[in-house]
Amino acid sequence: MHPMLNFAVKAARRAGAIINRASDNLDALTVRHKSLNDLVSEVDRAAEDAIIDTLKRVYPNHAILAEESGASGDSEYQWIIDPLDGTTNFLHGFPIYAVSIALAHKGQIQHAVIYDPTRNDLYTASRGAGAFLNDKRLRVSRRDKLIDTLIGTGFPFRMGADIDAYTGMFKDLTTKTAGIRRPGAAALDLASVAAGRLDGFWEIGLSPWDMAAGTLLITEAGGLVGDLEGEPNHMENGRIVAGNPKIFVQLLQAIRPHISDRLRN
Ligand code: IPD
Ligand code: CA
Ligand code: CA
Repeated sequence: MHPMLNFAVKAARRAGAIINRASDNLDALTVRHKSLNDLVSEVDRAAEDAIIDTLKRVYPNHAILAEESGASGDSEYQWIIDPLDGTTNFLHGFPIYAVSIALAHKGQIQHAVIYDPTRNDLYTASRGAGAFLNDKRLRVSRRDKLIDTLIGTGFPFRMGADIDAYTGMFKDLTTKTAGIRRPGAAALDLASVAAGRLDGFWEIGLSPWDMAAGTLLITEAGGLVGDLEGEPNHMENGRIVAGNPKIFVQLLQAIRPHISDRLRN
C-alpha cells in the first residue's frame, strides 16, 4: 500500500472509532442545523479533527478541504475529507454511513479511502493500482441492460428549484430499471457502484467531499463517472452520474430529456 494511502487509512479508522463510540449513545449528542435538512453533530467535528490531526502530523504542508472546517493551506496536494457521510442516517441509528478521505495532486485524485465503521469495511484505491474492499479486488458489475439494473440515487433535498427535473428523471428510471435505492450516504453509494452491488448511480447537489474518494474507487474498478451530460465536471457542479461503462451511457440517455437549463453546463 502506498504510504499516503496508509496514512489515510489510519486517519479513517481513527474517525471510525470515534463514530462507533458515539453511536452507542445517540441521545447524548448535540445536533445543529447547518441549513434545512443539513445536520452536523459534535461527532462530525471530532471525527474531522482526528483525521486532520493524523494527516497533518505527517504532511504538515498539504492543503485540506474538509466539510466542517473548510479549505486551508496552499499546496499541490489536497486532502478532501468527509468525516461522516450520512449524518442523518447516523443520528437516527440507521447504519449506513462512512468516513471518506481522498488525496488530490494538482487536482487529480490519487488515493481514496472510504471506511464503513458499522461493518469494519475498508474501501481503498490508488490511481492505476485498482480498487479494493478489504483485501478483495473490486470490479463494477457486468449487467448491460438498464432494465436489469439496480440504481442508486440521492434526493436533492436542498435544491427546491431542481426537484421537478429530478423527479422527472426518477419517474423515468423507476420504470426503466429493476429498482432504485436511496441508501443515504453518497460515498457508500459510489463504493457500491465500484463493488458491483449497484450498476449505476446519479445525484444532484453533491459536494466535492461526498464524491472525491468514491469516484476514484469507481474508475479503478472499471466504471465511468461524469456529470449529467457525461462531462468530467461533477466535482465542480455537484451533479454526478456513475456506472459500469454500458449502464453509464444508458443512464445518461435516460436522464438527458429531463435536464433543465439550470442543470446544464
Ligand atoms: C450527505 C449524504 C447524502 C446526500 C447528501 C449529502 P452528509 O452527506 O451523502 O447521501 O444525499 O447530498 O450531503 O451531509 O451526511 O455528509
Ligand atoms: Ca457527505
Ligand atoms: Ca458529512
